Formats: sequence, C-alpha cells, structure tokens
Amino acid sequence: MTIAKLSLRDKDYELPVTEGSEGEVAIDIGKLRKESGAVTLDSGYGNTGSCESAITFINGENGILRYRGYPIEQLAETTRFTEVCHLLIYGDLPTEAKYEEFGRKLTYHSLIHEDMKKFFEGYAITAHPMAILSSMVSVLSSYYPAAQSEEDVDMNIIRLLAKAKTIAAFSFKKSIGQPFVYPQNDLSYTQNFLHMMFAVPAEPYEVPEVLDDALNLLLVLHADHEQNCSTSTVRMVGSSEANLFASISAGINALWGPLHGGANQKVIEMLQRIQDDGGNYKKYVNLAKDKTSDFRLMGFGHRVYKNYDPRAKILKTAADRVLEELGVNDPLLDIAKHLEEVALEDDYFVSRRLYPNVDFYSGLIYRAMGIPTNMFTVMFALGRLPGWIAHWKEMREDPSSRIHRPRQVYIGKTERDVQPMSER
Ligand code: ACO
Repeated sequence: MTIAKLSLRDKDYELPVTEGSEGEVAIDIGKLRKESGAVTLDSGYGNTGSCESAITFINGENGILRYRGYPIEQLAETTRFTEVCHLLIYGDLPTEAKYEEFGRKLTYHSLIHEDMKKFFEGYAITAHPMAILSSMVSVLSSYYPAAQSEEDVDMNIIRLLAKAKTIAAFSFKKSIGQPFVYPQNDLSYTQNFLHMMFAVPAEPYEVPEVLDDALNLLLVLHADHEQNCSTSTVRMVGSSEANLFASISAGINALWGPLHGGANQKVIEMLQRIQDDGGNYKKYVNLAKDKTSDFRLMGFGHRVYKNYDPRAKILKTAADRVLEELGVNDPLLDIAKHLEEVALEDDYFVSRRLYPNVDFYSGLIYRAMGIPTNMFTVMFALGRLPGWIAHWKEMREDPSSRIHRPRQVYIGKTERDVQPMSER
C-alpha cells in the first residue's frame, strides 16, 4: 500500500493513499485528527474528496465527462434522458424491456395528488418557480412517507422523477395564469413535460420534434456532475438519513444560487443587459476583469474544468442547430459568441483558464424553445434529478457512509466572562 508521510511538530505520521479507477490519488486523512490532533483546512472543499463514488468521472484538465464510464458526447448523441436516468441510478443502460418498463412507470406516476394542487393557490403570482419546485418536492414526503424497504425506495425514486416535471410545468402555468394541463399516458417523459408546459385546453397540441430533441439533449447533459454544490448538499442532508424528497429539495435550493445552476438565468440577463447597452460586449469583458467591480462573466469559469466544458461545446453547436430549425434569430446568441471569442483570447481569461461552462449556451436554447428565463434553473434541476438520486442512493447503500460533519478552525474570542448589562 502506498503511504503519504506528514511531519507535524517534530512527529511523523503515515497516511494511507487510495487510488481511483482512473488513477486519481487521494490521501486518506480520516484518522489524522485522532492521531495528531490536527484537522485539514480546505476552504470551499476545492481539494477534498468527500466520498468514493462510481457514478461520474470528470477530468477537468482535459475536458472529459463520463457517466458510469460512457463519454458524454456518445450519450448526448444516442440516448434518451430516461435511459440516462436508469444508467445513473441503477448503474447501467437499460435493456429494451427494462427501458419500456421504466418509461411506463415514469409516465404512470406523473400525476400529482389532486390535493397537492391546492398548494399552488397559496404561492404569490410572482413566486420564483425554484421556490415552488423545492417546496413541492419537500411536500411529496407528506404524501409518500419515508421508504422502509428497497421496493419502497425504488417507488419513491420513480415518483420523484415522474412528478417533478409535473410540478415544474404546473408552476409555469400558475405563473402565467393558465389552467394546469395534465400528463398523458401516450407521451414520453420529455413530450409529457412539453405538453404540460405549452398545451392549452382550447386547441390540440402536438409536441414538435425539434423541441423534444432539444429538451432531451439538455436534460442528458445536465444529468450528473459528481460532487458539485447541489449534489454535495443532497449527500450532506441525506447523510443524516433524511428521506429522499427532503434531501433532493435541499439540493434544488443549493442549485438555485447564481454561482451554480442559477447562472443560466443570469447569463441571459447579462446578455440582455449588454444588448440594451448597445451591444458593446468588449466593455463587459473589461468590466469582468476589473477587480474593483463585482461583475463576472456569467456562464464562464468552473471549479473543476480548466479546459472547455464538454457540455458547453455540445450546446454551442446545438444552439446554432436548434435556433435555425425553430427559425429563431436571437441577437443574444451573436453577443454570446462575440463575448466568448474576445474572452478566449484575453490574457485574463486565458491565464486563469476560464472557459464557457454548461450555462453559457443552455439558456439561449431554452429561450428559443419558449421557456421563460425564470424557469431555466428549474430545467437544470429536472435534468440533475437522476444524478442527485443516484448519489443519495449510492451513499445510502454504502456501509461505510457516516453522517457528514466537517470540522472547523475556530478563530473567535477565547473564553471571557459575561459582564452585567450596566458595565458593557
Ligand atoms: N468572470 C471573471 N472572472 C472570473 C470568473 C468570471 N466568470 N470566474 C472566475 N474568475 C476569476 C476570479 O475572479 C479569480 O481571479 P483571481 O485569481 O484574480 O482572484 C479566478 O478567476 C478564480 O476564480 P474563483 O472564483 O476562485 O474560482 P472558483 O472555482 O471558486 O469559482 C465559479 C468557480 C463559481 C464557477 C466562478 O468561475 C464563477 O463565479 N463563474 C460565474 C458563475 C457561473 O457561471 N456559475 C456556473 C458554474 S457551472 C455550474 O455550476 C453548473
């Protein structure tokens, strides 16, 4: 066994080293505090492996992303989202029979309990759909109590995957004051979502293939990304043995922030701001470089990728194709491309290895599809569901998993006495 050596205050410690299947080396510091009294300090966990996982592999230096060993490029080209859900959650791509059975269950469980519709009446008309999605996912736990057996767990997984898209579509309908459209059993997962979003009772609606394929691609590309902020949140909450719905609801909230999944909404707002300001994208590249301003190029940079995000590469090509097929001419796409061109040649971005991430082009496709900006992060959440679920399940099934409880380095006041109020 390889050993790492650490010297601390004139004493040597030996730390076991483990290696992942792709050659990643990790120093196991699990017993360090017990043996030496010291903890490690790693702000933002940039250098901390929080678990061993067999779900997703990322090599950020080389722009590689694989789900269960399959390159994202192949999955994006050839699979349906529900196949990828099966792959991530159960470990492999389904056979035809399993795929059909899985798809049938996902369709069959799409309806939400009629009583749950009443909750929608309580939200403000201006409610952000992420607030609705996260709270309604949490509410699912009141209808479907914590699972005891493996069968119960599987059923709750199906329910969550099936119902989240219904909740998301209903939140959109609520925001525009239209009646809810129910799912249909003859439609696929992606078709059902689009149908619930865009159908109106007054006319027949057939889901356009271009929308169906674009949505499928977006969901596949967002399906997992190992230990990011929201997935780590799901694992953190789930480590206390909180139920599936509670854990995923926490992940949805973590995703909401603009530095994470909320960036897709912020990218469009930024592009719109540039356009409204006369389209001077160079001004905004300069602003992003200016350390006295807090402006950042949204959709740029990534904690792990120090190369072009492979998902952004696929989406850049897809944006051209989808907008052309839909006959949409969006000036924001041109601004995005110019911004990227300028940034990728600028020493500030080059030296920090800042490239477009998945959020840079995804919003332009959602926009062309007719999905409103404040729904973008909800779309991300729908895509990320199987990843969150897979991690929650993996952790639950790992006998070595313990409640997550990091340490800290206390830098506050040392002990002091409480003074009477009159003397403070
Ligand atoms: N625009 C301008 N400068 C940037 C950007 C950006 N988008 N991103 C990073 N930088 C700079 C930082 O100012 C820092 O510069 P410095 O070394 O001179 O201080 C350097 O690049 C490193 O950045 P950090 O913030 O330390 O990198 P970190 O890994 O902590 O953050 C993050 C990664 C949050 C993604 C960051 O790049 C960012 O804020 N990007 C914009 C928001 C975004 O697109 N988020 C979506 C990420 S993808 C996802 O979650 C799905």
